[in-house]
Amino acid sequence: MNLLTFRTEQDLNRAGAGMIASLLQIKPKAVLGLATGSTPIGIYEELVHLYRSGSLSFAKASSYNLDEYVGLSGSHPASYRCFMNTHLFDQVDIDPANTHVPNGLAVNLEQECAYYDAMIEDAGIDLQVLGLGHNGHIGFNEPGDVLVAGTHVTDLQQQTIEANARFFDSEDDVPKQAITMGVAGIMKTRQVMLVVRGESKAAIAERALTGPITTECPASLLQLHPNLVVLMDEGAGAWAK
Ligand code: F6R
Repeated sequence: MNLLTFRTEQDLNRAGAGMIASLLQIKPKAVLGLATGSTPIGIYEELVHLYRSGSLSFAKASSYNLDEYVGLSGSHPASYRCFMNTHLFDQVDIDPANTHVPNGLAVNLEQECAYYDAMIEDAGIDLQVLGLGHNGHIGFNEPGDVLVAGTHVTDLQQQTIEANARFFDSEDDVPKQAITMGVAGIMKTRQVMLVVRGESKAAIAERALTGPITTECPASLLQLHPNLVVLMDEGAGAWAK
């Protein structure tokens, strides 16, 4: 595991974007695993900046997002499809047909999960971007007695619903379920870039990366990933110095 702590948000964003840009330069057809939420926004902004400056192209790349709310269409402003279009896809030259986000409106959700897993398996994700939930979740793999290997429908925990209420008009509007890639899907990716920001995540980051490996902290499984890079700001990573 490679733990990196950055003095400024800009340094962190540049490092994260730099990892993605280097991969795309070496392998233009790279398959990116992407996350939503507040954490990667600065990195996506930096990628857009690199694209506009002419030093980066996504023309041959493809992407698979970790998760999507059940019941939201891609045009709902709080959907993860909409998030990705706004923050990245609509601003760079990626082919929209090569961008994948689980379909939260699928009539048969089980079939959608199996379809998504087959696509991920076939594509092979080169670099997976991850944020970290305050409860230790990755994607929407929530803590509990068991974790699920493949893409599945999950009930969001109250803490997650509260944390994500900021993207909705009210907490009641937050969907109670999501489709998420499972832990096996995440662990099979060739490289993981876990990004953690803010003092409020320092304790869970330390627990996940140095504590016992347990389903009670899904991110702790990442300790077993052979190619994990963790990018933290000073707030989240003070313990790692
Ligand atoms: C988002 C995702 C979640 C978030 C996590 C942190 O696609 O899978 O695991 O990464 O909830 O969210 P933020 O970055 O908003 O603190």
